[in-house]
Amino acid sequence: MMPSLDDAPPPGKEFLDRLRAIVGPKGIVDSTSEAAKFERDERGLFNGKAAIILRPSSTEEVAAILKACNDAAVAVIPQGGNTGLVGGSTPTPAGNEIVLSLSRMNRIRGLDAANDTISVDAGCILAEIQKAAAAVDRQFALSLAAEGTCQIGGNLSTNAGGINVLRFGMAREQVLGLEVVLADGRILSTMNALRKDNTGYDLKQIFIGAEGTLGVITGAVLKLQPAPRETSTCLVAVSSPAAAIELLGRAKTGSGGNCVAFELTHRRLLDFVFAHIPETADPLGRPYEWYVLAEFAAGDMGGALMAMVEGLLERAFEDGLALDATIAASEAQRRALWRLRESMTEAQKPEGGSIKHDIAVPVSAVPEFLEKARVACEALVPGCRVCAFGHAGDGNIHFNVSQPVGADRAGFLARWHDMNHAVHEIVASMGGSISAEHGIGRLKRDELPFYKDAVAIDLMRAMKRAFDPNGILNPGRVIPDPAN
Ligand code: FAD
Ligand code: MLT
Ligand code: ZN
Repeated sequence: MMPSLDDAPPPGKEFLDRLRAIVGPKGIVDSTSEAAKFERDERGLFNGKAAIILRPSSTEEVAAILKACNDAAVAVIPQGGNTGLVGGSTPTPAGNEIVLSLSRMNRIRGLDAANDTISVDAGCILAEIQKAAAAVDRQFALSLAAEGTCQIGGNLSTNAGGINVLRFGMAREQVLGLEVVLADGRILSTMNALRKDNTGYDLKQIFIGAEGTLGVITGAVLKLQPAPRETSTCLVAVSSPAAAIELLGRAKTGSGGNCVAFELTHRRLLDFVFAHIPETADPLGRPYEWYVLAEFAAGDMGGALMAMVEGLLERAFEDGLALDATIAASEAQRRALWRLRESMTEAQKPEGGSIKHDIAVPVSAVPEFLEKARVACEALVPGCRVCAFGHAGDGNIHFNVSQPVGADRAGFLARWHDMNHAVHEIVASMGGSISAEHGIGRLKRDELPFYKDAVAIDLMRAMKRAFDPNGILNPGRVIPDPAN
């Protein structure tokens, strides 16, 4: 059994003063107004109160904080950009948890263009890493709508996905080396920049996707990719989700693997974007039910990439897969198409309560999933508005359901569990996952035992005990309660 820190009293003044001394005055968030953004999650579903919010400036300071907290059995919540969507990065209301923000550790430690690697502090904002790579004619392949705020430490801890997984894989595939502070304050460094290193267990992968339950990531060596020379981006109105999946197969084969993003969306999301996000407009002449936003990228092909995309779309029109389409003719048009996609999370907020699902099924099963889940949700809450969008190229759909127009928000959100259950049962029947890319956190912890192999959960508990015997790191997150 793991020790539980749920009912631990808030740490006393003397202990907090010791932590203050480790980070110095610049490393403490003191004002209540500033604290709020560290204590409330992105969706406003989890509001808490930290015992103290610390912003260390070095790996050594993180190590000293963890050692002190481990010795005193005080809970620590590592926090990156706090854009996570499963309540993993904010404290509970009990006031007995310390928030450890990595935001001051935002140094690019080094960049080796010839080796295609960049070495960074965990608190670097994702967009800053992308910029540093672009400055030396390289690309850092991880990309998601929160990239202006989320930090690489958070991205790795959640094993983030985003829009380029189709071509480059999830966050874990971008990592060569990692620096992690363990619960007892020891520093594990595997900060090498090697493509090949078979010297025993690949320990870094244990911390990637662990959501801060096994250690605090303080640094990483990341892979860079060649910067593309040709890019072609298109918005295609498709005749159905099945047509989208057929188009995906053709796009992958026709481009020889150069299809880097393939996003599907229902019209409802675009309507929300046009209604709530300034300076957005429909690039096509009339509305359709389903759309694909696809991007292709390659080296110098003498303009052949655009010709390939035009040919692909021409055949899609002939075969009835595509009903309408536009190809970005400039970088500004490309940005405008992506802005529509990147605004979808924000645009759902003014529409009232939204019940979220971040699911994955085999790519071929996406159309069947969409139909079955829609029918189930509409039967459960007549008038609810299904907002299905996401990374269809990876079989990952954000199947969010907005409340019926004019309905009571709290009453609708009270159906969260029922609706999750209905959708997740469909997902499970198709061999899918109830968390494709956002993680488990607090939001899905109690559901995990119903959908994950019991032996896998036993091993997760054993790993937790081995890495964090006092249970100080993100207690109550990810690992299911043994009572379940
Ligand atoms: P946080 O939210 O601060 O933390 C997330 C988790 O990691 C928490 O459990 C926290 O305790 C832990 N953690 C944070 N930093 C560390 C560290 N240094 N060491 C150990 N543990 C740590 N996610 C996707 O996968 N794909 C998407 O396409 C995507 N799009 C998004 C779009 C929007 C508009 C928003 C708001 C979110 C989106 N997300 C997406 C979710 C979120 O951005 C990602 O999960 C992101 O990786 C979280 O990074 P963060 O720095 O904000 O982490
Ligand atoms: C995205 O892909 O935009 C996010 O992961 C979606 C979300 O808000 O659920
Ligand atoms: Zn996503």
